[in-house]
Amino acid sequence: MNVHADPVADKRAEAQTAEEGIALQEEQAKLDSKFATDVAMQNTLLTPRFYTTDFDALDAIDVSPVRADWDALIAEMQADPNKGHFKKTADWDVVDWEGMEPGLKKEFIDFLISSCTAEFSGCVLYKEMKRRGSNHDVTTLFQLMARDEARHAGFINDALREAGVAVNLGFLTQKKKYTFFRPKFIYYATYLSEKIGYARYITIFRHLERHPEHRFHPIFKWFEEWCNDEFRHGEAFALLMKTDPKLTSGVNVWWIKFFLTAVFATMYVRDHQRPAFHEALGVDPDWYAHEVFTKTSALSEQIFPITLDIEHAAWQPTLERLHRANVAIAEGTEAGGIGGRLRSWANQAKAAYCFARLYAIPARRHRVPESPRLEPAY
Ligand SMILES: [Fe+2]
Ligand SMILES: [Fe+2]
Repeated sequence: MNVHADPVADKRAEAQTAEEGIALQEEQAKLDSKFATDVAMQNTLLTPRFYTTDFDALDAIDVSPVRADWDALIAEMQADPNKGHFKKTADWDVVDWEGMEPGLKKEFIDFLISSCTAEFSGCVLYKEMKRRGSNHDVTTLFQLMARDEARHAGFINDALREAGVAVNLGFLTQKKKYTFFRPKFIYYATYLSEKIGYARYITIFRHLERHPEHRFHPIFKWFEEWCNDEFRHGEAFALLMKTDPKLTSGVNVWWIKFFLTAVFATMYVRDHQRPAFHEALGVDPDWYAHEVFTKTSALSEQIFPITLDIEHAAWQPTLERLHRANVAIAEGTEAGGIGGRLRSWANQAKAAYCFARLYAIPARRHRVPESPRLEPAY
C-alpha cells in the first residue's frame, strides 16, 4: 500500500540511471523554493561543495591488482539491493510540519538541505566521471554510484517538499561553484565522506531503534538500507586506492591525516550548530560525534595506515574551542562594523590555531590488511 501516492517520486526510486532520476526530479521542480536552493548554493568551509577533478587520470586506473574484490563489489551493486527502497510507503507517517517547534523545524530543514546537497554533490561528480571516461571498470562503478546518490538526494527532496521547500537540483548543477581537487584528494575526501556518511546514518538508525519515541520524522526509518549504499561506495574508493600503494604511504600519509582531521572537525562544528535537532533525537552531540569518529576510524583502518587519536586529552576540548570560535565568527560577521569584523578575524585566527592543534596530535599507526574488503557490521 502506498498512502502517499506520488507517481513521479515512485518512478524515480526505480530509476536505473542518474540521468533518468534527475529528469524526473526536474518534473517536480516547479514547486522548488528559492530559499532552499539559496542555502544549497552557499559555499563556505562548512557547507557541502561540488567537486571536479582530472577525469583522465581517474580514467587511467587499472583495477587488475584488486580484480576479485572489484568484481564482487560491482556484482553486488548491479544486483541493486535498494531498487525501490527510496519511496514513501505506509511506513511514511504523516509529518506535522505546522506543529513542529520552530527552532527544531529550522534546524531540521537545514539538516535536510545540507544532506540533500551533499548527496547530490556525489551524484554530480560520479555522473561526470561516467560521462567522460572510457575505462569500462571505472565508468561502470561511477554510473552505479551516481544512480544511488540521485535516489538519495531525490528522496530527501521529497521530504523537504512536504514542508513546502525543496532544492532545485537542476539549477544547482548549472550554477553552483565547482571546486577542483586532484584525484588523490578526491579519493581521500570522498572515501571518508562515504564512510562517515555510513557511520552517521547507522548510528542514528540504531539509536532510534532503541528509542522510537524520539523518531520525530519518518525519514530515519529509511537509514538502514540507505547507509549500506554509502558503505559500498566507500568500499569502492578503498579498492581504487588499493590499486596504487603510493596513495597510502610516504608523504601522502600527511595528506590522509589532514583529510581525517578536516572531515571530523567539520562534522563536529556543523552538528553543534543544531542543538534543537539533536535534542529532539535524544542524542548528545558530543556522544554522537565520538561514536561516529570511532566507527569511521575503525572502518578506515581497512586502507589508511593511521587513525586519529580521538582519545587524546587535547582532542575533545580543542574541538569544543573550534566550535566556539566558529560561533563567534558568525556572530561577528552578523554584528558587522569594525567591532564585528575584528571579532570575526580574531576568531578566524583562533579557529586556525585549533585546527593546527588537532592536526599536531600524534596519530596512531597500524598495519593495513592485504584485502581491504569489509561488510557493514554496526
Ligand atoms: Fe548517498
Ligand atoms: Fe554515497
